This record gives sequence, C-alpha cells and structure tokens, in this order.
Amino acid sequence: MAEAVSLPVEREPPPQAAQAKTRKNDSPGKNLFMIELYKVLKNVRSGSESLTILHQLDLTIRDNEFVSIVGPSGSGKSTLLGLIAGLDAPTSGEILIDGQDVTTMSEDALAELRGLKIGFVFQSFHLIPSLTALENVLVPMEIAGRRDASERARQLLEDVDLVARAHHYPSQLSGGEQQRVSIARAFANDPSIILADEPTGNLDSRNGQHVFDLMVGMNRRRGATLVLVTHDHELAGLADRRIALRDGRVESDSAAALGAGDELDSNLIEEGAVRR
Ligand SMILES: Nc1ncnc2c1ncn2[C@@H]1O[C@H](COP(=O)(O)OP(=O)(O)O)[C@@H](O)[C@H]1O
Ligand SMILES: [Mg+2]
Repeated sequence: MAEAVSLPVEREPPPQAAQAKTRKNDSPGKNLFMIELYKVLKNVRSGSESLTILHQLDLTIRDNEFVSIVGPSGSGKSTLLGLIAGLDAPTSGEILIDGQDVTTMSEDALAELRGLKIGFVFQSFHLIPSLTALENVLVPMEIAGRRDASERARQLLEDVDLVARAHHYPSQLSGGEQQRVSIARAFANDPSIILADEPTGNLDSRNGQHVFDLMVGMNRRRGATLVLVTHDHELAGLADRRIALRDGRVESDSAAALGAGDELDSNLIEEGAVRR
C-alpha cells in the first residue's frame, strides 16, 4: 500500500511530461490525452512458448472521454485495463497517464499515482468483506490522508443511493448494491480515470443497467475519463466512443470510423455531443 500522501490541489505538469518526446500531447499545461499507449506489446510465457496478448497497440484517450471496449473473451481487454492501471507492465512500448510515463516509474510512484488518479471497478466487486459499505468507501481516502474522508464517503454513498445501507457488510448486500459501493469507492479520491472491467457482468440486466447508469451519471457529474469494458453491446453503444478488440489488436474504433480520429473536436466529446 502507498504511504499517506497529501492531495495535490491542482494537477501539475509532471517532470516526465517534458521528456514525453514529440507527442501530439506536448502543449504546456493540461494534457490533451489522459491515456496514451504507444506500440504497447504484451507477451506472456505459456510453457516454453511466448504468447502475444497485445500486439503493438497504439491508443490515445482524451481527458473526459467515455470509451467502451468490447471484444470476445480472451481478446486482451482485462490485460489492457491492467496495463493502463499500472497493475501490470508491458513487454515493450510506452504508456502515459496524464502525461506521465508509467512504464519507467518506480513501484512507489506508481502506487501513489494509482491511488490518486485511478479508480477501478471490477466484475466481482472486490469489496473488503470485514468492512461495512461506508468503511469500504473510506479506505482509499484514508490511504490518501483526506481530512474530509467521512463526510465525503457519506456523500458518495448518497450519490449511489445507498445511505440506508452504509453500515451493512458486503455479505448483507445484493450484487447490484455491492457494485454500487465499489463505484462509490472508485470515485473516492476524485480520480482522473475510472477503469471498469465488466462491472455489470455479474448482474442481471435490470441491475446491470442501473449500475451502468449510475456509473455514467457519476462520471458526468464528477468528471473523469471513463474506460468501460463490457460484453453488452447495447451498453457499449452508449459510450462516446466504442473500441473493439480482437486477438490483441484494435479491430475497430468508432472515433477512427467517424473519419475524425485525432481531429475529433474534444469539446464535442466533453459535451457528450459525439455519440453513435
Ligand atoms: N498471465 C498470463 N499467462 C498466460 N496467459 C495469459 C495471462 N494473462 C492473460 N492471458 C491470456 O491472454 C489472453 C487475453 O486475456 P484477457 O486480457 O484476460 O482477455 P479478456 O479480458 O478480453 O477476456 C487470453 O487468451 C488469456 O488466456
Ligand atoms: Mg477480462
């Protein structure tokens, strides 16, 4: 776990940004892209063979963009999210989060960046069973040393309509309720990025839709770049941009399909005007 750190009031351009070579992202101050992957390759050993899970992936995601990622099981979706979260390292290539190169970062710096900038929502919730809903939401804020932690945890539970369940343990909550707690927890430290790996995968369609709506609503209200992996093509189609992976490659990308690519007006994306 990261040691207690004080929250920066503003995001300062990190020293690494200056060394980020000749990216399109080299304007001073705010980064155009929140997530940048350049030639990201991921190999794993399988017995005596080397298996390529991601093939030299190039992908840039803008600040505040809502991107869905679809693809058959085994296409590399979870691997991709794990790399963006810094939970896993690529075999080669470069990954920048808010302009910072995470591929060269120390474990400590990475843990700090993760705690402050990234919220993760898992398919199987990953709540701590011995803690109540409220306490689960408090954990990341306590690690970050936030003084307003209790007040904020209550507010976050209110956002996901779970104040009445604040003192319940995960085992006393339904799947949908557990996922709502984990969404509240993911937003705890005002992350710049929310990564969700099939957050509705363990829920029936009604609860899945509710969780999805809450996530998107939280995202619109609190603001974050949202990357959502889902099997549900209907939900995926509601994102600003839809990326399909197959066999570790980008099979299609609606931003590219619009013919706009990097020229796509980020203002339109932020206003949610660009939709499929
Ligand atoms: N540590 C690992 N060792 C070997 N194979 C792995 C490992 N992690 C993932 N894979 C394989 O890589 C492929 C992509 O996995 P994953 O990213 O979990 O796909 P998805 O989330 O799209 O279902 C799968 O074929 C999976 O079996
Ligand atoms: Mg997966």
